Amino acid sequence: MEVATGRLTAERSGPLAGRIKPPGDKSISHRALILGLLSVGTTEITGLLEGEDVIDTAKVCRALGARVERLAPGRWRVEGCGVGSLLQPEGTLDFGNSGTGMRLMMGVVAGHPITAMLDGDASLRKRPMRRVLDPLMMMGAQTLSQAEGGRCPIVLKGTAEPIPIAYKSPVASAQIKSAVLLAGLNSPGETSVIEPEASRDHTEKMLRYFGAAIKVEPFGESGRKITLQGRPELKPAPVAVPGDPSSAAFALVAATIVENSDIIIESMMMNPLRTGLLTTLLEMGADIEIIDRREEGGEEVADLHVRGAALKGVDVPAARAPSMIDEYPILAVAAAFARGQTRMRGLSELRVKESDRLEAVAAGLRACGVNPQIIGDDLIVEGREEVSGGGLVATHLDHRIAMSFLVLGLATQKPVVIDDVGMIATSFPDFRAQMESLGARFS
Ligand code: S3P
Repeated sequence: MEVATGRLTAERSGPLAGRIKPPGDKSISHRALILGLLSVGTTEITGLLEGEDVIDTAKVCRALGARVERLAPGRWRVEGCGVGSLLQPEGTLDFGNSGTGMRLMMGVVAGHPITAMLDGDASLRKRPMRRVLDPLMMMGAQTLSQAEGGRCPIVLKGTAEPIPIAYKSPVASAQIKSAVLLAGLNSPGETSVIEPEASRDHTEKMLRYFGAAIKVEPFGESGRKITLQGRPELKPAPVAVPGDPSSAAFALVAATIVENSDIIIESMMMNPLRTGLLTTLLEMGADIEIIDRREEGGEEVADLHVRGAALKGVDVPAARAPSMIDEYPILAVAAAFARGQTRMRGLSELRVKESDRLEAVAAGLRACGVNPQIIGDDLIVEGREEVSGGGLVATHLDHRIAMSFLVLGLATQKPVVIDDVGMIATSFPDFRAQMESLGARFS
């Protein structure tokens, strides 16, 4: 795959019009490959996201013994080995830019009698892994080496008999939850994870779909307890990957802030643990009509009819963070065009994403004539009728910062330049072409 790199400029664009279909959901794509690896037999996947993050996970599945083939665009076949029967990998497992790939696979490795070196790019090497290593150590895995502060490269030694644990996670993180559950697959007993707020539930849903016994109960005010019975016989099942709401988010906000736009976003996943941005934009006065809600591949999807709208600032509660965690950069862009102040509360987790997104968003907005404030873990954006733009935005190897500021530039007075488009290919290889088909101007 040829990946564009270098700067890209977004220019004020006319009304956006037309239809787009977001690429396959990144979270579900990783999980489909991993559960394919862990089932005996053939898993057929359609609509797989062919972004670099997911391709890296496919390569790691191969290194652990699966046969992974691309049959046609988005159509993949995985011949898995089954829980307990993974191969000792020969080289380093390279996850590129992907925290999800690495953290989920740490769980897989931890639950098997294999030793693996896990590594990634400069962004991934900065991200904290101890949050996942801690519970995996409790289950009997060992960290043979790690970079300072529990970062990769990490050499992880798994165990043939993971100890069943009940883990109370300090953060609402689907990656931590998934790592523990995936390690628990090879445990003789019950593994449970308690999360303080419900995070995306794709792992538990897909495990159940592949035949595992999983119980999900409410815990406390808004938390959940997920319990997995170990050593299930996972049976391959066809996976149809729905459209990624985190990628659809860019067209959604672009059509909202570019005056007189009128677009349709097709087949976006509507899982309620992923639609916080939709809720917030509707509160801000966005003109979004949800049409044709239906079920596809075990998830609810819908088409969205989005028209340009005048927005007003809102107060976004911290409790909404897990359901829109990856969408704060693009929400901040929408907030820049809203009347009044938008306060986004409780964003500490944004500091440990592909970049420190709290700082990266604030710096990008400042470069474009908006004056944001960070108070504690809150981001405050004072919106304005006209945003000047004209800045050069540093993307810090972060795809979502890159796409968010390209969207900003479609509605600013002066063009907005981002320093590097390269990382967009990790989650949305077609971003430029799809946005241009709606009338976005990039050069
Ligand atoms: C993901 C979970 C989220 C999200 C990431 C994908 C997943 O991370 O930010 O992009 O697929 O499980 P956390 O679970 O660490 O919040």
